[in-house]
Amino acid sequence: MKNSVLTFKEAKQTGKKLTMLTAYDYSTAKLIDEAGVNSILVGDSLGNVMLGYEDTLSVTMEDMIHHGAAVSRAAKNALVVIDMPFMSYQTSTYDAVVNAGRLMKEGRAGAVKLEGGREVCEQIKAITDCGIPVVAHLGLTPQSVNAFGGFKIQGKSEEAAKRLIDDALYVEEAGAFSVVLECVPAKLAELITGKLSIPTIGIGAGNACDGQVLVYQDMLGMFSDYVPKFVKQFADVGSIMKQAFRDYINAVSDMSFPAKEHSYTIDDEVIKKLY
Ligand code: KIV
Repeated sequence: MKNSVLTFKEAKQTGKKLTMLTAYDYSTAKLIDEAGVNSILVGDSLGNVMLGYEDTLSVTMEDMIHHGAAVSRAAKNALVVIDMPFMSYQTSTYDAVVNAGRLMKEGRAGAVKLEGGREVCEQIKAITDCGIPVVAHLGLTPQSVNAFGGFKIQGKSEEAAKRLIDDALYVEEAGAFSVVLECVPAKLAELITGKLSIPTIGIGAGNACDGQVLVYQDMLGMFSDYVPKFVKQFADVGSIMKQAFRDYINAVSDMSFPAKEHSYTIDDEVIKKLY
């Protein structure tokens, strides 16, 4: 069944947990879609896991459109959410609307996601007023890594926790249909989830959120530069890939690949005439 903002709304009402995974290319998105995941996030984490940057700040609108469009071509049932990259919405409401529009028109997104609380509510309202669904993102918002002084858990003190609760209410009020909570203490995420009428999607925020999201390379053991505490590795695909690459090198070296079944034939009489 095709997932949409209504799937998210229903899940909040019925208590059915939502699943979201990142993807950045056609083949992976197709596998995730066929597996039945509710939503595919084309995260700006592509800067880390696909492009090898240290953070997400260098990711451009063109990167997001290029990868987003590939994912959208694959997703038959999952709701595709494309991240708004750093400085594509913070600068002005006008920029936010224009760039969200590009992600919908050129990236064929079903929704966009942006980071921040009260400071981006004007943008969230303006984008949703154009008929573009918005997912908000609170807690550890990687585009603000320099302001945080590193990738740190958020909302630990009473003041920070209160601010986070208020921000969640603000983004809901501004029109977001869902909110990602990243690196937030589990009990605080549970409290926020109980206060909101839109679903929370957790990453490093405990199991009381209305849904979960993971970066697919993390959950498949395909990215080892940095593995956060909240990651569960569901399969060691990285090791399987590495072994397959080694097997390939050996097979080419000992000429067991390509074998007869991988080769094309020609009439012996034709070959004879060529010598
Ligand atoms: O960019 C991303 O992959 C994200 C998730 C970690 C939520 O924003």
